[in-house]
Amino acid sequence: MFQGAPITHPMSILGIRGILFDFIDDPWKHPGNEQAAVRFLADGLLVVEDGRIKDHGEFEEISQRYPGLEVTHFRNRLILPGFIDGHIHFPQTRILGSYGEELLPWLEKWVFPEEIKYKDRGYAREGARHFFDGLLSSGTTTCQAFTTSSPVSTEVFFEEASARNMRVIAGLTGIDRMAPADYLDTADHFYQDSKELIARYHGQGRNHYAITPRFAFGASDELLDACARLKQEHPDCWVNTHISENPTECREVLRQRPDCEDYLSIYEKHGLVGPKFTGGHGVHLTDDEFRRLSRSGASVCFCPCSNLFLGSGFFRIGKATDPEQRVKTAFGSDIGGGNRFCLLHTLDEAYKVGMHHFTTLQGPAPSDQAEAARSKISPYRGFWSITLGGAEALHLDRWIGNFEPGKEADFVVIDWNAGPSAQAWHQSLHLGEHTGPQTVEAAAELLFGIMMTGDDRNIAETWIMGSRAHPKQA
Ligand code: GUN
Ligand code: ZN
Repeated sequence: MFQGAPITHPMSILGIRGILFDFIDDPWKHPGNEQAAVRFLADGLLVVEDGRIKDHGEFEEISQRYPGLEVTHFRNRLILPGFIDGHIHFPQTRILGSYGEELLPWLEKWVFPEEIKYKDRGYAREGARHFFDGLLSSGTTTCQAFTTSSPVSTEVFFEEASARNMRVIAGLTGIDRMAPADYLDTADHFYQDSKELIARYHGQGRNHYAITPRFAFGASDELLDACARLKQEHPDCWVNTHISENPTECREVLRQRPDCEDYLSIYEKHGLVGPKFTGGHGVHLTDDEFRRLSRSGASVCFCPCSNLFLGSGFFRIGKATDPEQRVKTAFGSDIGGGNRFCLLHTLDEAYKVGMHHFTTLQGPAPSDQAEAARSKISPYRGFWSITLGGAEALHLDRWIGNFEPGKEADFVVIDWNAGPSAQAWHQSLHLGEHTGPQTVEAAAELLFGIMMTGDDRNIAETWIMGSRAHPKQA
């Protein structure tokens, strides 16, 4: 090809045949009949053209329309949309499982010393390799990520995500107080660097930019004003931060700002709360804060592995899912406050947090009983939350989240017998004499077993835009 000639990609079309399980609605809207939110095909076919889903349906029917189609057939596997992690810290991969502290001393002892290293591009690249390998081997195809206060980390993050063609949200992570001096940024630098990063990455390929004040506790009013200016100048950007995570943090943040009545009002006063805003954790949100989040269209992110690991508390998932004042809710690993990449573990811990509420909210008040019932994380609620529900909470559902034709073909292939020993025997309880689930209910039973006993061994393959991304050589 002579230099300067346009690069043309041949049209590619392929079929993916197997047991397809995706969502078309929110199962919390269908109490007692959550199956109504699912599309289940015991022998389905996805037709993928140039990385996008072109067709979806029963194999017998759809395959007739595509004679000669090259089909990859997954036998005894469940195929779901790729998992979506709504809150994760790219530069904390190496400090997973670091012992012994709650949030603020943990940040000081483990997080800031590690994140400072990401000023070094070589170190950041090595971290990025491990981070994205960790996501893909866990079935996670999209994440909303924090980087560090150094633009190098944000550049490296987007470069690695682009190399893997993954849809991601991230942004320079602003902090100008309450951290070591060599980690701190200034409001002016943060503004300038963010502008440049937005120009360079936002909307490029599958990259989205989030204006990212780390948390109100580490942000001066000037830094939050800089965020507000960025949001005004780039209204289509996302805003990602932490909110009401830890009791000491919540107390101290209000001591810093006696003019604010609660945590959320700090971000509200700076005009940051609305659609495309995500507040991570929200463990100690008041009823009124839930109400205001709902009214504004903002999202929260439930991070149970982290909330338990750091002793932060029990997020009220049954409150967030109140139909009278629904708050869009993504689920997140919060690596490295969370100690596991794989969102199956997030579902495991979410279920246990939900069961805690389920038993402790059984008082006489009908509103408590309703919240208790909504707290149970059924497999429908759980897998919706890490696929279509996560996509909706992060405003990515026009591209990803289910197998709707036109969406991008990011999906995960699950082997229900690959986890701990005895998993096969355990799962055979739900399958009876069949080799695979024949009904949506049987598939949901299998998925519940996977979320409660499984791990990344159950992730047989992860595909990004119609190409196998994990394992690299199958
Ligand atoms: N709040 C501010 N920074 C962090 C962080 O890195 N992890 C968690 N879990 N909470 C935070
Ligand atoms: Zn976090």
